[in-house]
Amino acid sequence: PPASLTHVLRFSQSAAVNMAEEAKKLAAYSAVDNNVQNNQVVGVGSGSTIVYAVDRLAERVRQEKLNIVCVPTSFQARQLILQHGLVLSDLERHPELDVAIDGADEVDAELTLIKGGGGCLTQEKIVAGNSKCFVVIADYRKDSRALGEQWKKGVPIEVIPMAYVPVSRVIAKRFGGEVNLRMAVSKAVKTRVRRRSRAFAAPFTLSVLSGLQGPVVTDNSNFILDWKFEHIQNWSEVNTAIKMIPGVVETGLFVNMAERAYFGMEDGSVKVRK
Ligand code: 5RP
Repeated sequence: PPASLTHVLRFSQSAAVNMAEEAKKLAAYSAVDNNVQNNQVVGVGSGSTIVYAVDRLAERVRQEKLNIVCVPTSFQARQLILQHGLVLSDLERHPELDVAIDGADEVDAELTLIKGGGGCLTQEKIVAGNSKCFVVIADYRKDSRALGEQWKKGVPIEVIPMAYVPVSRVIAKRFGGEVNLRMAVSKAVKTRVRRRSRAFAAPFTLSVLSGLQGPVVTDNSNFILDWKFEHIQNWSEVNTAIKMIPGVVETGLFVNMAERAYFGMEDGSVKVRK
């Protein structure tokens, strides 16, 4: 494309990224301000939106001298807690949490979630499941009426490595769609893709390039399957059925768990779904 067109496209891409980051921050700040109080045990989720929540939490702890204990849902969350000088704990010392705050890949009208884009779904579900209140933070792109409307990568499912083929086959046969083993992509390939997509001002599909490094391995040393479903299902039933398949550790379907979701919107407002 002509240089000026490339320039315009690049500019609008970065404007969209900035808007989404601003929306994540809005949602995260609002959720922390409205759901965290002194003397609470707080579950800290994973992903990019939670980074803003931990920033705000640390700010409030400092300014208001709050006594807050944090339980992480991943290695990333643990690092965030430590980097911000917050008090780190675990489920052995604090098996019951007051509130858990976490991002999501998609949130439907019933507050059913797809989570696990970052592969931390099992610990995230454990922490959320042991919290009196589970609060979701997300930008406007995650807000949907029905799962699959926004998030196109499917439902992440954590599996025991030796079982990934049989589990994939059973899921595809019983529920339709396509199941893929999540692969790690090398940094060099990511950079190549970014450069090419910039040069052509178009998104580039990773799968057309070689350089996959092998399966993504979770914090629990397991693999992740991504199930691209074809149609809307009864998520509660599907979640239970998938969990019964030998080799499945956990699914990224969070049904009847979230109490509230905070969405940062494009216009700078925050939308709360209860
Ligand atoms: C990680 C998750 C994340 O919370 C989810 O992927 C959302 O991430 P982000 O805030 O970066 O959009 O479930 O396993």
